Amino acid sequence: MRGSLLVDHIGELVTNDGRDGDPLGIRRDAALLIEDGEVAWTGPARHAPAADRRIDAGGAAVLPGFVDSHAHLVFAGDRAAEFAARMAGEPYTGGGIRTTVGATRAASDDDLRATVGRLRAEMLRQGTTTVEIKSGYGLTVADEARSLRIAAEFTEDTTFLGAHVVPAEYADRADDYAGLVCGPMLAAAAPYARWIDVFCERGAFDADHARAILACGQAAGLGVRLHANQLGPGPGVRLGVELGAASVDHCTHLTDADVDALAGSETVATLLPGAEFSTRSPYPDARRLLDAGVTVALATDCNPGSSYTSSMPFCVALAVREMRMTPAEAVWAATAGGAAALRRTDVGRLTPGARADLIVLDAPSHLHLAYRPGVPLIRQVLHNGVPR
Ligand code: NIG
Ligand code: FE
Repeated sequence: MRGSLLVDHIGELVTNDGRDGDPLGIRRDAALLIEDGEVAWTGPARHAPAADRRIDAGGAAVLPGFVDSHAHLVFAGDRAAEFAARMAGEPYTGGGIRTTVGATRAASDDDLRATVGRLRAEMLRQGTTTVEIKSGYGLTVADEARSLRIAAEFTEDTTFLGAHVVPAEYADRADDYAGLVCGPMLAAAAPYARWIDVFCERGAFDADHARAILACGQAAGLGVRLHANQLGPGPGVRLGVELGAASVDHCTHLTDADVDALAGSETVATLLPGAEFSTRSPYPDARRLLDAGVTVALATDCNPGSSYTSSMPFCVALAVREMRMTPAEAVWAATAGGAAALRRTDVGRLTPGARADLIVLDAPSHLHLAYRPGVPLIRQVLHNGVPR
């Protein structure tokens, strides 16, 4: 949309500018000017410049749009029965991934596209303006390539997760499958992918396979991210740090050596509390990571098996209540933290030059996101400066 737009009468503006020892960079009684889809100016409302159009925030809080850096949106079918069985006492093992692979392979492109579109719209309504989307439910050359081609219609941050699990037709032939992922599957996927990811876990891929697959992805120009230490302790987090991963995700079972490795690195620890909620598992210890100086992000892990939520406000509330994050830390992790996990500097902040992705809350403060869990507090979303 051309012309300038002023968001005025902001009671609390979360800029994430990180100055003055306040990571959220909160400004009171503020205004924000948007030009050409970018933040052009922020400052006291009484100094607000003239603009072509104006939104009156009416004293509400304004935040950067959420950056959901971990989501599996390209799939077909659901696993509600598996969820019900879990709530009746069954454990989560990741074995249900193969159920979704079967449904995804059988779906048409249009069905997959419709599902991604529905979930992307659901996310936008809940304040998510940037989302990463993984493949990983195709697990053939053609199905991984089309998953990423469809994902790329919705986001720049697409991730090749051909190494999600070893598909049934490769049972007991994990070496052969790893060779397929590194060879023809990567070649077909890379044109549509920015990132490569591996589920490094007992029952999925061990450290040797994960290292080999991630190295192939790096050689093909993809950035590294990793599913690590979700279901038990393991080598994933340290492998991610060793390879310079942008992010290691889940981080539920960490040793002191894992935490030390993260603390001395540029790798973000992305926590996915929707997964622990939906699998009735112990939550990761965010406090331990934060106190060690690790950069923490929050994301939904939206997928039909372990975490079928698209709601970043829900994850913020869980992080505060269950993972001992302060509301400020959780909001930072869901915005600037997600941007760091995607190595993006254009989103996750509301300072001049940033993309004008913002949320007007139906509340006077960011605190309300955790204080009023389950309440639809997202009054308005602007994406690239455009009201959605
Ligand atoms: O991040 N852990 C691996 N992948 C997903 C779960 C996928 C599924 O259960 O369908 C996750 O939790
Ligand atoms: Fe995941």
